[in-house]
Amino acid sequence: MKHLLSVSDLTLESATGLLDEAERFEQALLGREVRKLPTLRGRTVMTVFFENSTRTRVSFEVAGKWMSADVINVSASSSSVSKGESLRDTAMTLRAAGADALIVRHPASGAAHRIAEWTADGDDGPAVINAGDGTHEHPTQALLDALTLRQRLGSIAGKRVAIVGDILHSRVARSNAFLLSTLGAEVVLVAPPTLLPVGVSSWPVTVSHSLDAELPGVDAVLMLRVQAERMNGGFFPSPREYSITYGLSEKRLGMLAEHAVVLHPGPMLRGMEIASAVADSPKAAVLQQVTNGVHIRMAVLFGLLVGTEEGAAL
Ligand code: CP
Repeated sequence: MKHLLSVSDLTLESATGLLDEAERFEQALLGREVRKLPTLRGRTVMTVFFENSTRTRVSFEVAGKWMSADVINVSASSSSVSKGESLRDTAMTLRAAGADALIVRHPASGAAHRIAEWTADGDDGPAVINAGDGTHEHPTQALLDALTLRQRLGSIAGKRVAIVGDILHSRVARSNAFLLSTLGAEVVLVAPPTLLPVGVSSWPVTVSHSLDAELPGVDAVLMLRVQAERMNGGFFPSPREYSITYGLSEKRLGMLAEHAVVLHPGPMLRGMEIASAVADSPKAAVLQQVTNGVHIRMAVLFGLLVGTEEGAAL
């Protein structure tokens, strides 16, 4: 695999291999005073973010640094993009400056795909990783969510996972729905009709409009952020109605099975889609997701820049 642009780039075997590799990196770093592996020494990794981020950008930077790569962070606001430079010229400039990997977040769906096409040079050119493109995909988020579910539940195959909330604007929902299905989970999307995308009938999922009906039967619930910034000022149902009907309250937490786990990709809108007491409860795996995000991104960078067949050079 040259790039990671979509979870459709992953098979059951390759996705499971990345989850296993992430856990090998976690083990290799455990108890070390200096968290530094030589794995990517001499490689240049560039994060290129045209949208804000805390978790994804930081965890890619930590992942690269823990593997001794040179990590350069490029943000739209501090680059020549703010002077009107095109996406293509920016990408070609970063390739010419020596990028071995470009980690791209962009508000336009398909931006990472286009950059991969533009910067390809036969078999050369940087590896491109999609770190979130518009409402399309966020593949490393789905991988870290899958790793968290596997750790909390013991396995993924046969488990029932509810993805709840603003599916329409969520790249996390799409990537999770397809990856979890590849890994053998049963996925139910829980959302108001107004926050479901056209074409959802072709996704490998079932759809429900009742959170209360679904909660007792699921092994995991993945709460989504309501993405007001993509709603052009309109929000239906109203925030209050949404919170009452689809918010994960303390009362609703009590409807889950004893073993069930709560995920949220962050950033969380506490009091809106998830109550503070739920986000901070032992059932919630929010910070475990963040930690797993570093190890998953180590595995992805390693897989793309070195290759997995020889095993992790730890
Ligand atoms: N989950 C996620 O993508 O968070 P950030 O926007 O902070 O990177």
